Amino acid sequence: MATRIRKAIFPVGGLGTRFLPATKAMPEEAQAAGIEEFIFVTGRGKAAIEDHFDQSFELEQTLEQRGKTAELAALRRWLPRPGTAAYTRQQEPLGLGHAVWCARDLVGDEPFAVLLADDLILASVPCLKQMVDVYPEVRGNLIAIMDVPRDQTSRYGVLAPGRDDGRLVQVRGMVEKPAPAKAPSTLAVIGRYILEASVFDYLGKKNVGAGGEVQLTDALIPLIGGSPFHGYRFEGKRFDCGDKIGFFEANIAFALAREDIGTDVRDILRQYV
Ligand code: G1P
Repeated sequence: MATRIRKAIFPVGGLGTRFLPATKAMPEEAQAAGIEEFIFVTGRGKAAIEDHFDQSFELEQTLEQRGKTAELAALRRWLPRPGTAAYTRQQEPLGLGHAVWCARDLVGDEPFAVLLADDLILASVPCLKQMVDVYPEVRGNLIAIMDVPRDQTSRYGVLAPGRDDGRLVQVRGMVEKPAPAKAPSTLAVIGRYILEASVFDYLGKKNVGAGGEVQLTDALIPLIGGSPFHGYRFEGKRFDCGDKIGFFEANIAFALAREDIGTDVRDILRQYV
């Protein structure tokens, strides 16, 4: 079985347009991990996402006329090459698991990645790249995990862990959004996955789970035991962009980390605190 991960799914149907910059950060992360095909699962009213990844003809023309070559190059640097981005729609918001299932024919029968734009991760080696690098060691299914405070387990998929070497954790079970008292651990699933195509069979059953939605976590449970299944404690800081404060903090952290504007941003922040 090949261990190269060529395709990535981005479930973006539920995102507001304020997420567009984050939406762009995800394919950049995927590209850094060697992903060659970018599959966006969008929804009604989300045409802006397709335009976001297309040439901005008017803008490029204006930049060209004004001789803004650096800006023009930056704009063009990340544009999917022709034929490498695919868009499919999730007609009804039935849940993350259903969104991933909508991409089944575009993925076919090979291991693939899933990236959730709500989870922005600042790291020296992009999170999915870290995972693609450890994947040949473990194969099977690999999901990003992080330790969270017990009072937050109900926001995440949570692992029932087996052997844990500090970096890789064997997955024995998983529960979606358990109450703190019922959580099997405090190891939470973060939105980066490398999965086997067989998960589509379980997603296709459209079983409804936590929150009345088709959950990706639930479709992963039957895969445990069949082939290796690991959680990977990634290096880096994760921001929950589904939350207003988390989104704000991510903007600050990413701006501070930028070589071109980091110092200016720091000076500005100093004026406020
Ligand atoms: C999803 C997954 C959950 C995971 C989380 C990470 O939940 O269902 O297992 O822990 O992403 O952000 P959501 O945040 O979409 O409710």
